[in-house]
Amino acid sequence: MPDYILALDQGTTSSRAVLFDADGKVAGSAQHAIRQIFPQPGWVEHNPAELWHSQLTAAREVLQQCGVPASAVRAIGLANQRETTILWDRATGQPMMNAIVWQDRRTAAYCDNLRRDGYGAMIGEKTGLVLDAYFSASKLKWMLDQLPGARQRATRGELAFGTVDSWLVYKLSGAHVTDASNASRTMLFNIHTGRWDDELLALFDIPAAVLPAIVDSSGHIATAAADLLGHAIPITGIAGDQQAATFGQACLQPGSAKNTIGTGSFLLMNVGEAPVASANQLLSTVGWRLGGRTTHLLEGSVFMAGATLQWLRDGLGIVNEVSQIEQLAGTVADADGVVLVPAFSGLGAPHWDPYARGTILGLHRGSTRQHIARAALDGIAYQTVDVLRAIEADSGVPLRELRVDGGGAKSDLLLQLMADALGIPVLRPVNIETTALGAAQLAGLGVGLWSDIAALKHHWQVERCFEPAICDDRRTWALTRWHDAVSRSSAWATV
Ligand code: G3P
Repeated sequence: MPDYILALDQGTTSSRAVLFDADGKVAGSAQHAIRQIFPQPGWVEHNPAELWHSQLTAAREVLQQCGVPASAVRAIGLANQRETTILWDRATGQPMMNAIVWQDRRTAAYCDNLRRDGYGAMIGEKTGLVLDAYFSASKLKWMLDQLPGARQRATRGELAFGTVDSWLVYKLSGAHVTDASNASRTMLFNIHTGRWDDELLALFDIPAAVLPAIVDSSGHIATAAADLLGHAIPITGIAGDQQAATFGQACLQPGSAKNTIGTGSFLLMNVGEAPVASANQLLSTVGWRLGGRTTHLLEGSVFMAGATLQWLRDGLGIVNEVSQIEQLAGTVADADGVVLVPAFSGLGAPHWDPYARGTILGLHRGSTRQHIARAALDGIAYQTVDVLRAIEADSGVPLRELRVDGGGAKSDLLLQLMADALGIPVLRPVNIETTALGAAQLAGLGVGLWSDIAALKHHWQVERCFEPAICDDRRTWALTRWHDAVSRSSAWATV
């Protein structure tokens, strides 16, 4: 029987299991949707038991579909939605409450207060993160504050905190660990020392006894119990999903970058072995830690990418299916002066304006839904330009090409508009399952199926390269108008 690697990709909206063969090719996949729980406006939760069961079911299904016995799976690699916070009882394995999801804003006011009290700079310097409710620290503090007796129990070592990677590894094996990439999203991890930071633990009033051990992203981490999948399987790779996608996109050299276009889009650039402090409100984050050596990334996230197209379908009703938007937008040569800023829930990096709102400018009597669809695609592409310019400014490294993945990367027109807006080639790989691939590669390296990074080279191949097809003057003109439109959308919610 040939060797396989099982990648588990536990994301915000689904749990996926993808089986890879020894050539890094996808043998099969299975997926289950995750219920989104909204107890109050701005609150977002997941049921930890559902995260686990959906993930385990997907894993069993993919093995069954492919006819592969668990004994042929050399290792499990895990990629996960990041920052989402889970607290459980070590003795019983029972979660203390639902997971607080990364999108949840319940601790925003607490974070505002910390910022007002002047903690932003210290936190930014130590963690590389922008002081925001997005990250795990304020969510865990909320749990320890709200659940009766929780802080005392956590101090006595009776409770365990983890992001989704920790939770799944615990359910698979009983080990309580997290990898350095996930740790770097908690706001409790010091990216310079590579350890949990006592000053941050004191600030958020979090007992060290609740924290998982930090491990490398690749290497023997734990062993999944034999009764779960039919055979004991080593877990040898873990990374946050965006870091895993960066690895799977073979962005292994400083200066290489990827953009995952999903609901939002996540742009990350490899900056090498030393963290780069951002002057443009980007995140400085751990990519992966291999053999004790850390690769650092700069990250910028855009809140609305594919979600803009969902709004055209659900909010505006100009299409029945998101897939029709590309066709609609392709029937016109350009947006004919229409500019759409998708600031529906504010603007992320590098603007960080929670009060910006969606804006459509330049409508005239001849404007049609085709032009609005085209302007929506332009808006997704232009947001990418703003983040990449910020990444280039922070890193001092000009980007030569951009690799793309995620559902949005299926749109040829969007990728062409992105190449035009950026003025550099945009590359779509054959395998756009790069998150799962990255997790599988980390696991394959960790178990010795692949000897080193050079052995991964043939896993990444270009399917299509989109070259810029407009002149510099046209690009400058379009971006000037875009930035004018962004400034008009700014702070609109406060007017
Ligand atoms: O930081 C949040 C990110 O990891 C979520 O990614 O793919 O689950 O939406 P995804």
